Amino acid sequence: MTTGSLKATSPSSTPSVEPTRRDFLYVATAAAAAVGALATLVPLIAQMEPDAATLAAGGPIDLDISKIQPGQQVAITWRGKPILVTNRTPQLLETLQDPKLLSQLADPQSGELQQPAYAVNWHRSLKPQYGVLVGICTHLGCIPLFEPLQNASQPAANWLGGYFCPCHGSKYDLAGRVFNGVPAPYNLPVPPYNFVNETTIRIGENPPGSDFDFSSVRQI
Ligand code: FES
Repeated sequence: MTTGSLKATSPSSTPSVEPTRRDFLYVATAAAAAVGALATLVPLIAQMEPDAATLAAGGPIDLDISKIQPGQQVAITWRGKPILVTNRTPQLLETLQDPKLLSQLADPQSGELQQPAYAVNWHRSLKPQYGVLVGICTHLGCIPLFEPLQNASQPAANWLGGYFCPCHGSKYDLAGRVFNGVPAPYNLPVPPYNFVNETTIRIGENPPGSDFDFSSVRQI
Protein backbone atom coordinates (compact mmCIF):
# COMPACT_ATOMS: atom_id res chain seq x y z
CA MET A 1 0.00 0.00 0.00
CA THR A 2 1.30 3.43 -0.80
CA THR A 3 0.59 5.30 2.36
CA GLY A 4 0.83 8.61 0.55
CA SER A 5 -2.64 7.95 -0.76
CA LEU A 6 -4.05 7.97 2.76
CA LYS A 7 -2.98 11.30 4.11
CA ALA A 8 -3.05 11.90 7.85
CA THR A 9 -5.68 14.19 9.23
CA SER A 10 -4.32 16.69 11.69
CA PRO A 11 -5.27 15.88 15.24
CA SER A 12 -7.53 18.31 17.01
CA SER A 13 -5.68 21.25 18.56
CA THR A 14 -8.11 21.23 21.48
CA PRO A 15 -7.08 18.72 24.15
CA SER A 16 -9.90 16.42 25.12
CA VAL A 17 -10.22 13.51 27.48
CA GLU A 18 -12.55 11.44 25.36
CA PRO A 19 -11.35 10.38 21.94
CA THR A 20 -13.29 11.82 19.06
CA ARG A 21 -13.91 10.44 15.59
CA ARG A 22 -11.26 12.86 14.32
CA ASP A 23 -8.72 11.53 16.81
CA PHE A 24 -9.45 8.00 15.77
CA LEU A 25 -9.20 8.83 12.11
CA TYR A 26 -5.78 10.30 12.74
CA VAL A 27 -4.70 7.28 14.75
CA ALA A 28 -6.10 4.95 12.15
CA THR A 29 -4.28 6.70 9.36
CA ALA A 30 -1.02 6.45 11.24
CA ALA A 31 -1.74 2.82 12.00
CA ALA A 32 -2.49 2.15 8.36
CA ALA A 33 0.89 3.57 7.49
CA ALA A 34 2.58 1.37 10.07
CA VAL A 35 0.96 -1.81 8.89
CA GLY A 36 1.27 -1.00 5.23
CA ALA A 37 3.25 -4.13 4.53
CA LEU A 38 0.49 -6.25 6.00
CA ALA A 39 -2.42 -4.56 4.33
CA THR A 40 -3.70 -6.11 1.15
CA LEU A 41 -4.34 -2.82 -0.57
CA VAL A 42 -2.33 -2.89 -3.76
CA PRO A 43 0.04 -0.01 -4.43
CA LEU A 44 -1.55 3.09 -5.76
CA ILE A 45 -0.16 3.39 -9.24
CA ALA A 46 1.49 6.76 -9.66
CA GLN A 47 -0.35 7.71 -12.81
CA MET A 48 -3.67 7.25 -11.03
CA GLU A 49 -2.92 10.21 -8.81
CA PRO A 50 -4.89 13.25 -9.89
CA ASP A 51 -3.00 16.50 -10.01
CA ALA A 52 -2.66 18.54 -6.84
CA ALA A 53 -4.91 21.35 -8.05
CA THR A 54 -7.79 18.94 -8.64
CA LEU A 55 -7.34 17.38 -5.22
CA ALA A 56 -7.17 20.76 -3.52
CA ALA A 57 -10.37 21.91 -5.21
CA GLY A 58 -12.24 18.81 -4.05
CA GLY A 59 -13.66 18.33 -7.53
CA PRO A 60 -14.31 15.03 -9.28
CA ILE A 61 -11.32 12.83 -9.99
CA ASP A 62 -10.92 10.10 -12.59
CA LEU A 63 -9.54 6.65 -11.93
CA ASP A 64 -8.39 4.14 -14.56
CA ILE A 65 -9.92 0.92 -13.27
CA SER A 66 -8.34 -1.22 -15.99
CA LYS A 67 -5.20 -1.26 -13.83
CA ILE A 68 -6.95 -2.95 -10.92
CA GLN A 69 -6.32 -6.68 -11.11
CA PRO A 70 -9.17 -9.13 -10.33
CA GLY A 71 -9.50 -9.57 -6.59
CA GLN A 72 -7.46 -6.49 -5.80
CA GLN A 73 -8.11 -3.00 -4.59
CA VAL A 74 -6.66 0.47 -4.99
CA ALA A 75 -7.05 3.44 -2.69
CA ILE A 76 -7.33 7.00 -3.86
CA THR A 77 -7.96 10.16 -1.90
CA TRP A 78 -10.96 12.32 -2.67
CA ARG A 79 -11.86 15.30 -0.49
CA GLY A 80 -9.35 14.03 2.05
CA LYS A 81 -11.10 10.68 2.34
CA PRO A 82 -9.76 7.28 1.34
CA ILE A 83 -11.86 5.89 -1.50
CA LEU A 84 -11.45 2.15 -1.91
CA VAL A 85 -12.09 0.72 -5.36
CA THR A 86 -12.16 -3.05 -5.73
CA ASN A 87 -12.26 -5.36 -8.73
CA ARG A 88 -14.49 -8.14 -7.41
CA THR A 89 -14.21 -11.51 -9.10
CA PRO A 90 -17.32 -13.61 -9.85
CA GLN A 91 -16.32 -15.83 -6.94
CA LEU A 92 -16.16 -12.87 -4.55
CA LEU A 93 -19.49 -11.58 -5.87
CA GLU A 94 -21.07 -14.93 -5.15
CA THR A 95 -20.33 -14.51 -1.48
CA LEU A 96 -22.29 -11.23 -1.40
CA GLN A 97 -25.48 -13.20 -2.05
CA ASP A 98 -24.71 -16.10 0.27
CA PRO A 99 -27.58 -16.51 2.78
CA LYS A 100 -25.01 -17.43 5.42
CA LEU A 101 -23.50 -13.97 5.01
CA LEU A 102 -26.78 -12.07 4.66
CA SER A 103 -28.09 -13.45 7.94
CA GLN A 104 -25.15 -11.85 9.75
CA LEU A 105 -25.50 -8.33 8.33
CA ALA A 106 -27.10 -5.41 10.13
CA ASP A 107 -28.40 -3.66 7.01
CA PRO A 108 -28.19 -6.12 4.10
CA GLN A 109 -30.66 -4.16 1.93
CA SER A 110 -28.92 -0.81 2.45
CA GLY A 111 -31.95 0.73 4.11
CA GLU A 112 -29.94 3.44 5.84
CA LEU A 113 -28.91 6.43 3.76
CA GLN A 114 -25.28 5.51 3.38
CA GLN A 115 -25.21 5.40 -0.42
CA PRO A 116 -26.85 6.93 -3.49
CA ALA A 117 -30.02 5.29 -4.83
CA TYR A 118 -28.01 3.77 -7.67
CA ALA A 119 -26.06 1.75 -5.12
CA VAL A 120 -29.08 0.38 -3.27
CA ASN A 121 -28.70 -3.15 -4.56
CA TRP A 122 -27.01 -6.38 -3.47
CA HIS A 123 -23.57 -5.21 -4.65
CA ARG A 124 -23.95 -1.55 -3.53
CA SER A 125 -22.47 -0.22 -6.73
CA LEU A 126 -23.22 0.76 -10.32
CA LYS A 127 -21.64 -2.40 -11.72
CA PRO A 128 -21.29 -5.54 -9.61
CA GLN A 129 -17.65 -6.05 -10.58
CA TYR A 130 -16.43 -2.77 -9.11
CA GLY A 131 -16.95 -1.74 -5.51
CA VAL A 132 -16.46 1.93 -4.61
CA LEU A 133 -16.52 2.76 -0.91
CA VAL A 134 -15.39 5.41 1.52
CA GLY A 135 -12.79 3.64 3.66
CA ILE A 136 -13.73 5.16 7.00
CA CYS A 137 -15.15 2.89 9.69
CA THR A 138 -18.55 4.15 10.85
CA HIS A 139 -17.62 3.46 14.47
CA LEU A 140 -14.84 5.93 15.20
CA GLY A 141 -13.20 6.53 11.87
CA CYS A 142 -10.37 4.04 11.48
CA ILE A 143 -9.50 2.75 8.04
CA PRO A 144 -10.74 -0.82 7.55
CA LEU A 145 -8.34 -3.34 6.05
CA PHE A 146 -9.14 -5.15 2.81
CA GLU A 147 -9.32 -8.87 3.61
CA PRO A 148 -11.13 -10.36 0.61
CA LEU A 149 -10.51 -14.06 1.15
CA GLN A 150 -12.33 -16.45 3.44
CA ASN A 151 -10.35 -17.76 6.37
CA ALA A 152 -11.22 -19.88 9.38
CA SER A 153 -9.41 -17.72 11.90
CA GLN A 154 -7.93 -14.54 10.37
CA PRO A 155 -8.55 -11.66 10.75
CA ALA A 156 -11.51 -13.00 12.74
CA ALA A 157 -13.07 -16.38 13.35
CA ASN A 158 -15.06 -17.80 10.43
CA TRP A 159 -14.06 -14.87 8.25
CA LEU A 160 -16.16 -14.69 5.07
CA GLY A 161 -14.08 -12.05 3.30
CA GLY A 162 -14.54 -8.30 3.39
CA TYR A 163 -13.17 -5.42 5.43
CA PHE A 164 -11.88 -5.67 8.96
CA CYS A 165 -11.40 -2.67 11.20
CA PRO A 166 -8.36 -3.31 13.42
CA CYS A 167 -9.29 -0.66 15.99
CA HIS A 168 -12.25 -2.38 17.66
CA GLY A 169 -13.00 -5.33 15.43
CA SER A 170 -15.85 -4.11 13.25
CA LYS A 171 -16.51 -6.24 10.21
CA TYR A 172 -17.92 -5.39 6.79
CA ASP A 173 -18.47 -7.51 3.71
CA LEU A 174 -17.00 -6.71 0.29
CA ALA A 175 -19.93 -4.40 -0.42
CA GLY A 176 -19.20 -2.44 2.78
CA ARG A 177 -22.21 -3.87 4.63
CA VAL A 178 -21.62 -3.97 8.36
CA PHE A 179 -22.06 -7.11 10.43
CA ASN A 180 -24.36 -7.46 13.41
CA GLY A 181 -22.83 -7.29 16.87
CA VAL A 182 -19.84 -5.08 16.07
CA PRO A 183 -19.19 -1.50 17.25
CA ALA A 184 -19.77 0.10 13.85
CA PRO A 185 -23.44 1.04 13.42
CA TYR A 186 -23.70 1.64 9.67
CA ASN A 187 -22.52 0.35 6.32
CA LEU A 188 -19.51 2.04 4.77
CA PRO A 189 -20.62 5.04 2.71
CA VAL A 190 -20.63 4.94 -1.08
CA PRO A 191 -19.45 8.21 -2.65
CA PRO A 192 -21.03 9.72 -5.74
CA TYR A 193 -19.37 8.32 -8.84
CA ASN A 194 -20.02 7.52 -12.44
CA PHE A 195 -18.51 5.59 -15.33
CA VAL A 196 -16.97 7.92 -17.89
CA ASN A 197 -16.32 4.92 -20.12
CA GLU A 198 -15.71 1.19 -19.66
CA THR A 199 -12.35 1.70 -17.97
CA THR A 200 -12.66 5.01 -16.16
CA ILE A 201 -14.73 6.00 -13.17
CA ARG A 202 -15.22 9.58 -12.04
CA ILE A 203 -15.40 9.90 -8.28
CA GLY A 204 -17.39 12.87 -7.08
CA GLU A 205 -19.90 13.00 -9.91
CA ASN A 206 -23.29 11.26 -10.10
CA PRO A 207 -24.63 9.58 -13.23
CA PRO A 208 -27.04 11.76 -15.24
CA GLY A 209 -30.42 11.95 -13.54
CA SER A 210 -29.12 11.47 -10.01
CA ASP A 211 -28.90 14.33 -7.54
CA PHE A 212 -27.33 12.35 -4.68
CA ASP A 213 -25.85 14.75 -2.15
CA PHE A 214 -22.85 13.12 -0.47
CA SER A 215 -23.19 15.33 2.60
CA SER A 216 -26.64 13.86 3.29
CA VAL A 217 -25.43 10.38 4.21
CA ARG A 218 -26.15 9.32 7.74
CA GLN A 219 -22.52 8.95 8.78
CA ILE A 220 -19.17 9.35 7.10
S1 FES B 1 -13.15 2.57 14.57
FE1 FES B 1 -13.88 1.24 16.09
S2 FES B 1 -14.26 -0.58 15.02
FE2 FES B 1 -13.59 0.74 13.49
